[in-house]
Amino acid sequence: MHHHLRPAMMPVLAAAVLLLATLSQAHNITRILAQHPEFSTFNHYLTLTHLAPEINGRTTITVCAVDNAAMDELLSKHPSIYTIKNILSLHVLLDYFGAKKLHQITNGTALAATMYQATGTAPGSAGFVNITDLHGGKVGFGAENNDGTLTSTFVKSVEEMPYNISVIQISKILPSAAAEAPAPAPTQQNLTSIMSKHGCKVFADTLSSFGDALTTFNDNLGGGLTVFCPLDDAFKAFLPKFKNLTASGKLALLEFHGVPVYQSLATLKSNNGLQNTLATDGANKFDFTVQNDGEDVTLNTRLTTAKITDTIIDQQPLAVFAINKVLLPKELFKGQALAPAPAPEPSAADAPAPAKGKKKKKKAADAPAADSNSDAPADSPGDAADDTADDSNGAVIPEGRSFGNVVIALGLVFGLPLVL
Ligand SMILES: *[C@@H]1O[C@H](CO)[C@@H](O)[C@H](O)[C@H]1NC(C)=O
Ligand SMILES: *[C@@H]1O[C@H](CO)[C@@H](O)[C@H](O)[C@H]1NC(C)=O
Ligand SMILES: *[C@@H]1O[C@H](CO)[C@@H](O)[C@H](O)[C@H]1NC(C)=O
Ligand SMILES: *[C@@H]1O[C@H](CO)[C@@H](O)[C@H](O)[C@H]1NC(C)=O
Ligand SMILES: *[C@@H]1O[C@H](CO)[C@@H](O)[C@H](O)[C@H]1NC(C)=O
Ligand SMILES: *[C@@H]1O[C@H](CO)[C@@H](O)[C@H](O)[C@H]1NC(C)=O
Repeated sequence: MHHHLRPAMMPVLAAAVLLLATLSQAHNITRILAQHPEFSTFNHYLTLTHLAPEINGRTTITVCAVDNAAMDELLSKHPSIYTIKNILSLHVLLDYFGAKKLHQITNGTALAATMYQATGTAPGSAGFVNITDLHGGKVGFGAENNDGTLTSTFVKSVEEMPYNISVIQISKILPSAAAEAPAPAPTQQNLTSIMSKHGCKVFADTLSSFGDALTTFNDNLGGGLTVFCPLDDAFKAFLPKFKNLTASGKLALLEFHGVPVYQSLATLKSNNGLQNTLATDGANKFDFTVQNDGEDVTLNTRLTTAKITDTIIDQQPLAVFAINKVLLPKELFKGQALAPAPAPEPSAADAPAPAKGKKKKKKAADAPAADSNSDAPADSPGDAADDTADDSNGAVIPEGRSFGNVVIALGLVFGLPLVL
């Protein structure tokens, strides 16, 4: 929407932008807690662990804060920052509990899922908190896997914004062996094994069999990586098309499912727009657009609109999300769109895959009408110009866009060994 705006539209646009900004930032946990110095340590660690923006990106939640003395007790054990993040995530309930609701829990007891549960790293029911009404108006809290012991009690309500966020004080940190276990730094995570265990085995196996692609993913683990892994059914169905790709096409497709920055679900929900991928390489854009529809986050390549169906892991600096479709980059499938039995890419990309970041893909003879096949609404700004460049060029299209060269399209193949 950057072209052809009439000046008269500007105030309207500005108002709209302001409104959007206001809506997307309904609450700011850092600011709420800053008014209460007794929670300054808790607040500080919400920032250090990057939990604050995740809390701000969610609604219908309850933050169970503890005072500085309770935080000191936790910190005296010198947990790593990753462990602290797990522990504090257990203190963010994914439901709204104001003081009134806490004292009127149906049947006197409830289990609340937490942000720790949402990271996907909590074993069993360790990501749930038991809230129980006790005698004398007390409300007890305990981690669900803590032998049923309710170690903490409700102290007071700190701030209530129904039903966006409730901030309450509880007496102590909730003990949880699982959350307190030394958490591996995300850079030590075994990416393929995580994906395999969560419905993306075919994609993970395929990635494993492409050493170059896996290396690109792993190289980005430390600095920040977001992976969108297609679920097994989707990747299996895609396998015949994958086999038809050239070697460099296969590599690009896999790398198309990775983004070289960490993006939590909250960030994806609040930041719509173009995403470069691990396959992006100068002229070869290999990007897609993130769009939100209510609580759904979709990825739109203009040939595919895939939906995020699950958070497999979301721990700075690594996020892995399951998606319901394989992302088809238009650079590889343009002209085929949704048509059945597409012709294989007639490109020159048969040469052995060049080193990462140096891939060249010839876009020979793309059908001019290709873009009209898109099932995706919004063309991202710049696409029109890019496509023009593409078509006039007939070969590799180097455009100015060259941030990350790391997008990975993970979702592909479990049958890879056969393919290769
Ligand atoms: C939240 O509030 C803190 C402290 O006032 C401020 O530094 C931070 O920028 C705010 N965050 C957002 C996203 O507005
Ligand atoms: C409350 O208890 C009744 C009877 O045991 C049960 O049928 C009902 O599902 C419970 N409600 C909730 C919200 O747990
Ligand atoms: C919560 O813990 C209490 C005490 O151990 C137990 O009686 C209750 O059944 C638990 N509630 C739920 C919903 O599991
Ligand atoms: C809750 O958030 C919405 C926007 O997401 C906002 O319009 C509303 O005013 C907020 N409610 C409260 C009580 O702050
Ligand atoms: C990751 O796990 C797979 C098995 O799921 C194993 O084959 C591979 O060696 C592991 N990689 C690393 C770096 O540990
Ligand atoms: C793969 O390529 C062959 C030969 O061009 C073609 O006949 C077949 O339809 C293609 N299959 C798929 C699934 O694209």
